[in-house]
Amino acid sequence: MSTQILVVDDDRSSVDAITEVLKREGHQLFVADGGRAAIQILERKRIDLVITDLQMPDMDGMSLLKHISNQHTHTQVIILTGFGTIDSAVEAMSAGAFNYLQKPIDLNVLRSTTAGALERRALLLQNVNLRQQLDEKFGFANMIGQSKPMTNLFQLIRRVAPTDATVLITGENGVGKEYIAKAIHNHSRRKDKQFKPINCGAITPTLLESELFGHERGAFTGATARKIGIFEQSDGGTLFLDEIGEMAPEAQVRLLRVLEEGEFTRVGGSQSIKGDVRVLAATNKDLETAVNNREFRADLFHRINVFRLRVPPLRERVEDIPLLANHFVQEISRRYGKIIANINLEAMEYLIQQEWHGNVRELRNMIETAVILSTSETITLADLSTDFFQSPTSIPTQTTNGHSSLDSERFGHVGMTMEELEKEAIIRALKETDGNRAKAADMLRIGVRTLYRKLESYQIET
Ligand SMILES: Nc1ncnc2c1ncn2[C@@H]1O[C@H](COP(=O)(O)OP(=O)(O)OP(=O)(O)O)[C@@H](O)[C@H]1O
Ligand SMILES: [Mg+2]
Repeated sequence: MSTQILVVDDDRSSVDAITEVLKREGHQLFVADGGRAAIQILERKRIDLVITDLQMPDMDGMSLLKHISNQHTHTQVIILTGFGTIDSAVEAMSAGAFNYLQKPIDLNVLRSTTAGALERRALLLQNVNLRQQLDEKFGFANMIGQSKPMTNLFQLIRRVAPTDATVLITGENGVGKEYIAKAIHNHSRRKDKQFKPINCGAITPTLLESELFGHERGAFTGATARKIGIFEQSDGGTLFLDEIGEMAPEAQVRLLRVLEEGEFTRVGGSQSIKGDVRVLAATNKDLETAVNNREFRADLFHRINVFRLRVPPLRERVEDIPLLANHFVQEISRRYGKIIANINLEAMEYLIQQEWHGNVRELRNMIETAVILSTSETITLADLSTDFFQSPTSIPTQTTNGHSSLDSERFGHVGMTMEELEKEAIIRALKETDGNRAKAADMLRIGVRTLYRKLESYQIET
């Protein structure tokens, strides 16, 4: 395929000279007499290179350049400049132009500069292809990972996904349990039906039962109409029972019945309802211990523990950190419309050395903050703000004594008492876990009861 070049200039003789030379080189040429006409062509044609004058009557070359860097990222730009406009040519280069040519144009320089610009474009494209290939090689269903434990996990997921087996996904907070559940759904025959996640820890026991199985009118005070539960709603699809370790005993009995017999009754009802629902479950609890402590039914445990996927914590797969970090930089900077190319070595080394108790989610959050803070194309150590007291993402949580957690930001670490520090850590953990106390306690490495006690004594309202 021949290269397509667009020449933009209101000076006809300059256009003619350029097009003639480049046509002879075998390129296909398009011509526009101003920025607006150029944009119209760019919208209709694949243009590999734009050679544009800076000063034009309707839309100048700088605005055109900016438009191209935003909308046509792989299109290269060469700027044409008169003798007096070298400064703006330099400015244009820092705005992303490949190079500039001074008028009157030396045709040999034109040829070699054009060749250079096209080479850069080819390289850029190659890199994208390379990256895509890497993604396909190292990941599975958008999941990043090339470490041994992750590639093993991907293999297991591939095998179990197409079956209807119940899968128990275990692992610490933020390792990607829900992500894996979705991947299983997307690689099953149910992929066009619903994937319904429900957090068993976030709903009160009575509500959970009626959420899952529905209820009949009058089943309990407030049940003014029949309600269809999630099991019925997700017929043909996948139900993801998150935090299954938090499920109340009554709900556990009903769930066991669905899993064993494929049928259930609505709360307050007697009619048996059959449903075709695949169940995936996840927990960060040690269910064996919960069974021993009689917090979790042994029969249910054995029923869901048919196929177990253990997702390793991030610190057990350090080699995935650079891949994940780069992946998040790309994804997040795209979302914020920022051009951030990479993470420098020092920053990457720092990332590799962290403990990551919040695992992939914590890494993702840190990268997100870094992308927001970063003022250049490269993320540096300074952007990886670990000092959450200063971090712009530490959202103030109102406490009952009227102070906001941001009060302490003015002091930073220094000058804070241990109590203040602890309070900040609790607020931060609650924020990181969307207010889920069990998870927050886990993250803080304290028992959930201790957390409740501290919430009360520090008067933290969530
Ligand atoms: N292998 C991966 N590749 C890309 N992104 C990932 C991967 N693993 C996790 N993530 C991202 O990390 C974040 C946390 O993942 P997820 O919510 O699935 O974790 P979780 O194990 O369910 O956590 P929790 O126990 O707190 O509920 C999500 O933003 C997810 O997109
Ligand atoms: Mg989860």
